[in-house]
Amino acid sequence: MNLIAERLNRVSPSLTIAVSTKARALKVAGRDIISLSAGEPDFDTPDHVKEAAITAIRNGETKYTDVSGTPALRKAVADKFKRDSGLDYKPEEVMISTGGKQIIYNAMVATLNAGDEAIIPSPCWVSYPDIVSLADGTPVIVPCGQNNGFKLRAEDLEAAITPRTKWFILNNPCNPTGAAYSAEELRSICDVLLRHPDVWIFTDDIYEKLAYDGFKPATIVQVEPRLRDRTLTMNGCSKAYAMTGWRLGFCAGPLTLIKAMDKLQSQSTSNTSSITMAAAVAALTGPEDSIHAMVKVYRERRDLVVSMLNEAPGITCGKPEGAFYVFPSVHGCIGKTSRSGVKITDDESFVGALLEEEGVAAVHGTAFMYPGYFRISYATSTDLLREACRRIQHFCQGLT
Ligand SMILES: Cc1ncc(COP(=O)(O)O)c(C=O)c1O
Repeated sequence: MNLIAERLNRVSPSLTIAVSTKARALKVAGRDIISLSAGEPDFDTPDHVKEAAITAIRNGETKYTDVSGTPALRKAVADKFKRDSGLDYKPEEVMISTGGKQIIYNAMVATLNAGDEAIIPSPCWVSYPDIVSLADGTPVIVPCGQNNGFKLRAEDLEAAITPRTKWFILNNPCNPTGAAYSAEELRSICDVLLRHPDVWIFTDDIYEKLAYDGFKPATIVQVEPRLRDRTLTMNGCSKAYAMTGWRLGFCAGPLTLIKAMDKLQSQSTSNTSSITMAAAVAALTGPEDSIHAMVKVYRERRDLVVSMLNEAPGITCGKPEGAFYVFPSVHGCIGKTSRSGVKITDDESFVGALLEEEGVAAVHGTAFMYPGYFRISYATSTDLLREACRRIQHFCQGLT
C-alpha cells in the first residue's frame, strides 16, 4: 500500500525553492555563487516593527488568539484597506493567516470541489496551480504575451471562462514578471467579470507597495465596487515590510467565505503567532519611510539590471512597473552552445549552464508556466547584481 496520498502526486515541490537549495549547496561546496533566485527582500525588518514584537513578548502577549487574528490587527488591516484603496471592510470581514500563502490555501480548500476551475494568467507565481490542484481544482493557465507587458487581455479572460470556472486569480504586481495593472487597465477585466456573476475573484496584492516611477497598482474592488461580494483581496507583510520569516498574510472579503476559511484554519494552524501579529499592527499603523527607502533602492536596481541584461547578446528584457523581478527572454540564445559545450535548447538548459559556468542562480520560466524566459530577483545588493549581470553578459558572449 502506498504511504503517500494520491493528491500529493498532483503537485511538485516549489521549483524556486529547489533552485535556491541547489545554489546554497554549491556555495557550501566552495563555489562562488550569486543567487538571484529568492523572492525575498534583502532588507531587514524595520526597527519599530521589531520593537513592537519585543514589547508584546514582555507584555505576555504569548497566548492563543482568535483563529482569524487579534481584534487590533483585524482593525489595522480594515483601516489599511480603507486608507490605501478606499475599501470598506469591517474587522470581522478580515482574516489573518500564516503568510499570504495560507490565505490562498484556505480560500482554495474552502471553496473548490473536484473539477472546479481556477483561471490563472501566466507567467504566474509557482504556487497557484499547485495549491489549486491540491484543493482538487483544475488550474486553467492563460498565457499573457510579452508584447502586452505580460498582462492579461480582457478577451483572453472572457475566452477562458466556462461553466466550471469558480475562481479568477490575479496577481498585481506580478511575480515573476513585475507587471502591474493600473485602475484603467483593470477596467476591461472588471467588465468581463461583471458579465460572469458566478466567478469569484482572488486578487493577490502582496507586492502592492513595490511599484516605481509613480505607478499605482489598483485593486479589483476599488475599480469595480459591484464585484465586492465575490472578491477576496489578499495582501501581507512579507514583501512591503521585509517580514518573510514572521509569517503574516491578510485578506478581506465576504463574511461567508471568511467564516469558511476560519473554520478550516481552526483545524490546521489556528492563529498565526501572537507576537507576529503585534509586530504587524506596528507595521501597518506606523511610518512608511522604510518602504519609501526600499522602493528607491529597488528602482535603481531594476534600472541597472534591465540595462545590463539588454546588453547581453540574445537576451531581451522589458522594464516592469513593480515587484522586485525581471523576466527576460532567452529566445535569442536557444540553439547555441556554451563555452563548456552545453547546448542551450530551452530556458532550463540556459539557467543550468549559467549556474554551472558563471555561478549565477536564476529560475527558468517553465517554473512559472512560461518557457523561453527566466526570472531574476533583484532583491539583492546592488554590487552583487552588477557582478551577476556582468557574468550573464560574459556567458551570453560565449554562446556560439
Ligand atoms: C505572488 C506571491 N503571493 C504570495 C506569496 C506568499 O507570501 P507569504 O506567504 O510569505 O506571505 C508570495 C511569496 O513569494 C508571492 O510571490
